[in-house]
Amino acid sequence: MNNSKSRIKQLAYRIVQAEKIGMIKDCGLEGATGKKVLTILQHAIQLLDDDECYVEIGVYRGLSLISTSIVAPHITALGIDNFTQFDKNNSNKTIVENLIHQHQLQNTRLINMDFEDALNSLDKYLNGKKIGLFFIDGPHDYRSQLVCLLFAKRFFSDQAMIVIDNCNYNHVRQANQDFLIGNPEFKLLFEGYTKSHPANLKGEELKHAWDTWLDGVNVIVRDRENELQPMYPPTIRDRSLFFNDHRIHPMRNSILAWRAAKLAAVLKPFHPIMFLAYLMKLIIEVRKRKKTEIEPYPYINSLAKDLPYFNLNKLKIDS
Ligand SMILES: C[S@@+](CC[C@H](N)C(=O)[O-])C[C@H]1O[C@@H](n2cnc3c(N)ncnc32)[C@H](O)[C@@H]1O
Repeated sequence: MNNSKSRIKQLAYRIVQAEKIGMIKDCGLEGATGKKVLTILQHAIQLLDDDECYVEIGVYRGLSLISTSIVAPHITALGIDNFTQFDKNNSNKTIVENLIHQHQLQNTRLINMDFEDALNSLDKYLNGKKIGLFFIDGPHDYRSQLVCLLFAKRFFSDQAMIVIDNCNYNHVRQANQDFLIGNPEFKLLFEGYTKSHPANLKGEELKHAWDTWLDGVNVIVRDRENELQPMYPPTIRDRSLFFNDHRIHPMRNSILAWRAAKLAAVLKPFHPIMFLAYLMKLIIEVRKRKKTEIEPYPYINSLAKDLPYFNLNKLKIDS
């Protein structure tokens, strides 16, 4: 889209408008994205040029993918999901495919893949286009959040816009902050948060979250012309949890560390019933593990047994 105002100014204007006027089209779909986040996506996709496309990680039942692609039928939209979460009946993929069909969205394609595999082979799906708008709403652990940004970066257009959901989480903001510090030509344009994760909210506060940013949003832009001041999402300075990651990784059965953490959460204040329930769950899950899944050492499993002792890369020989 050609306009004398820069893309960043147009997006900033549309974010302010989004706050005032709301969604361009409300498809009334079920999903897990706040209305104002959808509004930003709908306004942002309209700024894309024909050689740019929309890529989304975390489609679930299609709310954000369909709501975004439906308002820009000329823009290619790729939704990536491996349907490993929130899909008890194994129906989410079919729901999305049906919606694409029902709304006759020729521009929209579902990629049923793990996001890392998909990002590592994305050129196959982009047909020479660049990512102009990227929505991150898949796995929310620190590494996945950062990897989404790092792996997608080589496909970003010169004026790429990135919308990141669930930024109420400190570790998500930390990933964004780390990316911004390491890649100073990208800047935080906008951040909006709600009081807490929606699971902790009730009544009016919960309704407000659904009507706005649900679980918080960050909008990052590529700022080649240096139009914006550096700005970073706030994070807590104490990084003990990230440091503890290193203690957890090498331990036997560490895959279940999150279950053990649930026990700690109900020790003080003490909830005896929850403690017993979580303990049982932990015992069952540990016992369910196959012998082949259990690492040999109680504390330090470095998984180095089969690594080469000496492996020097080959120099490319000039022809
Ligand atoms: C919160 S939902 C996305 C909500 C959706 N954007 C909406 O508007 O309703 C998160 C999605 O990420 C997907 N996901 C989780 N881990 C993934 C992975 N490693 N690769 C691809 N998708 C993944 C889950 O299957 C789930 O459908």
